[in-house]
This record gives sequence, C-alpha cells and structure tokens, in this order.
Amino acid sequence: MVDTWEELEKSIVNCQKCRLAKGRTNIVFGIGNKNADIMFVGEGPGADEDRLGEPFIGKAGKLMNMAFDAIGLKREDVYIANIVKCRPPLNRNPEFDEASACLNYLRAQVILVKPKIIVLLGSIALQNILGKEYKITASRGKWIEQKGILYMPTWHPAALLRDETKKIDFINDLKEVLERNNTI
Ligand code: URA
Repeated sequence: MVDTWEELEKSIVNCQKCRLAKGRTNIVFGIGNKNADIMFVGEGPGADEDRLGEPFIGKAGKLMNMAFDAIGLKREDVYIANIVKCRPPLNRNPEFDEASACLNYLRAQVILVKPKIIVLLGSIALQNILGKEYKITASRGKWIEQKGILYMPTWHPAALLRDETKKIDFINDLKEVLERNNTI
C-alpha cells in the first residue's frame, strides 16, 4: 500500500498490469482537490481523455461541467477519477480482469483523498465498487453507506447525452450530494 501521492503516481506511471496498457496514449490518473469531501468515479477514459491525460474532458465531461455550474459546484473542489486509468479500445466497457487489475489504484486514491461522499457515475462504477448485485436503475439517487463512506449512484454523464430526460435526475442527485455534504 502506498502512503503518498508521489508514491502512488510513481507506481502507476509504467503500469502494464492489463491489456489496456498497449493501447493507451496517456494514463488518466485523476484530477482535482486531493482533500475533497466529494469524489466522483467514472468508468474509464475516452479518446479525448486518453489524448490529454485528464478525466471527463470530452462531450460527457462538458455535460458534467454544465451540471456542476447549474448547482454551483466547482470542478476544482472535487476529486475526479475512473475505475480504469487507460482507455478501453473503441470505448467498450472495461472487462472484469482489467477493472480488478486497476482497482487498487482507485482504492489508494480514496484512502489518500478521504472523501465523505463518493458519487458513482453509472453502472460500471457502481458494480465494481459496491458489487454486481447493485443495478444502476434501481440504485440511482439512493444513498448507500459502507465503511464510513456515503455512496450516491447516479447516471453516467454519457447516458444523459443519449437520453435528455435523465438530466433532471442527474442534477437532482448532485444537489442532494451537496446538501448532504453540508450537513456531515
Ligand atoms: N467517461 C468516463 O467514464 N470517464 C472519463 O474520464 C470520460 C468519459
């Protein structure tokens, strides 16, 4: 287990733990406030993220930023990371062994950030963190507490691009997160 951000970043820089390493341009480690109360976890980098090494900067990220603006949340106040740090080919879902090979990096990020709340963006984040028995449709918008951390599953921002009606749920879930964060 690593004790510092420097050690963690050093441990990942040449990662070859799974087949995604072959296709990456950049490792997309994570970004934001390293002492954030709120952490966001997505699925894995897309093409834009792979090119620039930063999570959620493509279309889905822009939509997420718009939702942040709408509720007065600043991107730099939260910490944003993904289940897998390298882009899956053609943006397919990460496979089980790829996610398990990568999860220790995310666990280390959570230990270092010590968030009060983790927002799980979509079913890949939900199922890899809390378990396959959780379904995003049934779980979204409902708090789940485990080992002192509050989890809020919500839609993945890319789902909002496909179905506009989900935007309102997403904004409401984020508002709920902000309100809860102010009371704990
Ligand atoms: N989708 C994700 O899940 N993560 C990103 O960083 C970008 C798009």
